[in-house]
Amino acid sequence: MSSKTQDKRITLAWTGASGAPYGLRLLECLLAADYQVYLLISSAARVVLATEHGLKLSAGPDAAKKTLIEHLDCDASKLEVCGKEDWFSPVASGSAAPKQMVVCPCSAGTLASVAHGMSDNLLERAADVVLKERGQLLLVVRETPFSTLHLENMLKLSKMGVTIMPAAPGFYHQPESIDDLVDFMAARILDHLGVEQGLVPRWGYDHRQ
Ligand SMILES: Cc1cc2nc3c(=O)[nH]c(=O)nc-3n(C[C@H](O)[C@H](O)[C@H](O)COP(=O)(O)O)c2cc1C
Repeated sequence: MSSKTQDKRITLAWTGASGAPYGLRLLECLLAADYQVYLLISSAARVVLATEHGLKLSAGPDAAKKTLIEHLDCDASKLEVCGKEDWFSPVASGSAAPKQMVVCPCSAGTLASVAHGMSDNLLERAADVVLKERGQLLLVVRETPFSTLHLENMLKLSKMGVTIMPAAPGFYHQPESIDDLVDFMAARILDHLGVEQGLVPRWGYDHRQ
């Protein structure tokens, strides 16, 4: 595998926090940017995706992939949906896992599991691998208000170099739709990952009054 190909691999995890549209948009943008995406979906994420977006995914990875490819109308070859206990997936080992991982949206439950290295399913294991390999881990946490426990878990991970990005879109780009708010978050996340994007005008360039 060439280093260029290696660079364009990423792990994306969806958990059961509110904000499924963020995760879906991120997947769409990463695939459009020609990234190989390893997608991990928790059981609760499936419930939230159906509730918030009306998209029902089967528990099986292959069927879920088929539904997502049809929904996004994208290239199937770049997407790998991983099973919850697929311990032979590349994301389960530091010898093969992508160096970048985003959990978007990230529930308080998954935040706690990651902060404590639980590794009880492939999603938690993948995050633990990125931590131990000193890769880039982004958690797009969604809860309100935050308890002291949530804040402590976020601080703990932040001190380890994890980027905590609350799902908190700004309004200074004068959004006209929910899609605009979703794109605001997707743009900030893609910027942190170093993925080129033109979803939202940049501050200071297009917003001078
Ligand atoms: C529609 C819906 C919205 C939810 N929103 C949140 C949320 O914003 N933040 C959160 O931490 N949990 C939220 N939950 C609860 C989580 O889904 C639940 O704690 C679950 O166990 C998380 O598991 P996971 O981290 O494995 O996905 C929500 C659940 C549902 C069904």
